Amino acid sequence: MTEISIRQPDDWHAHLRIGSLSESVIDLFNVYGRVVCMGNLADPIDNLHKIISYRSNILSSVDFLPIIGAMLTKNSTLEKWIKITNLLYGRVFIKYLPEGVTTNSESGIAWPELENYYPILELAQDRRIPFLIHAEIDRDLKTGELIPEIAREKAAVPYVEKLARDFPELIINIEHVSTRAMVDLIMTHDNLSGSISPNHLAHRYEDVFDEQGNLFNVHKYFKPVAKAKYDQAAIIAAALSGDKKFFFASDSAPHYQADKEKFQKAGAFNALTNLTYLCEFFAEHNALEKFEPFVSESGARRYGFPLNDRTIKFRRETWTVSLIYRGIVPDLAGRIMKWKVIE
Ligand code: DOR
Repeated sequence: MTEISIRQPDDWHAHLRIGSLSESVIDLFNVYGRVVCMGNLADPIDNLHKIISYRSNILSSVDFLPIIGAMLTKNSTLEKWIKITNLLYGRVFIKYLPEGVTTNSESGIAWPELENYYPILELAQDRRIPFLIHAEIDRDLKTGELIPEIAREKAAVPYVEKLARDFPELIINIEHVSTRAMVDLIMTHDNLSGSISPNHLAHRYEDVFDEQGNLFNVHKYFKPVAKAKYDQAAIIAAALSGDKKFFFASDSAPHYQADKEKFQKAGAFNALTNLTYLCEFFAEHNALEKFEPFVSESGARRYGFPLNDRTIKFRRETWTVSLIYRGIVPDLAGRIMKWKVIE
């Protein structure tokens, strides 16, 4: 097959940033019908005023429908979330970034304190607002010791399991699933689903960290970190399974090259390659028929949205990913891609 048309996809998790960084990347997302725009800015998007202003800014320059992943933070209250959902139903999801686990998560709530915010989760359950979790924990709660980055998602499994039991009707999505343990947990609870980023299909832990666990390739450093073969194989199998519980979300997270190299910022800017990488991934696994459900159907169904009407077309044609894009080093820089989006 040399050409394939599929229904227009959605990106259920992207960091569109703000200011010049946002201006550098935002047009790349016009290929999608809907984009969940994460609110982990330096000043986190966590109240009605900030959500409206961030969303209007995005809306004024794009073709896609922005849905804001508004942050659950220490400033969140039930009253604020009632207002938000009254006004913006279907245009806002709740994003839970536990305190300290990644970029701009300082105002996040630590796992053990989450129970104090259960009234907000009850509201989300009643009103069918998706609850998106960055499922990692960075410290052992008993000893206070830092957990190695590679083990942080697995360490969060018991916390996610408790939440899944406490809220049987809540739409809980585990963002960028990266471990076999989390895939297994998702499979055993009806209220859990998991989004998959190409980051965890394409990269391995040993491409990023040496044997002592030292980071040597900051351009492949994102969180949750790339995993070793055992876990990567489980993510690949979940993506290829065709199970509606697993669907695409890019987790595109640009940082300017200088910032990334100087401050070792986590985040892969994969927006240039996501769809063509996935087209190649499904084609090479002889599973092209699973491509469209993965990128364009299962996520929309999970979150209760109609499928997009438009289609996009791919052609088998090579091109090389640029080494630098508007000051940002793209994921897969220099790689020869086998498919191209042509219309
Ligand atoms: O690698 C990551 N970068 N993971 C996240 O969860 C946040 C993101 C960012 O905002 O840079």
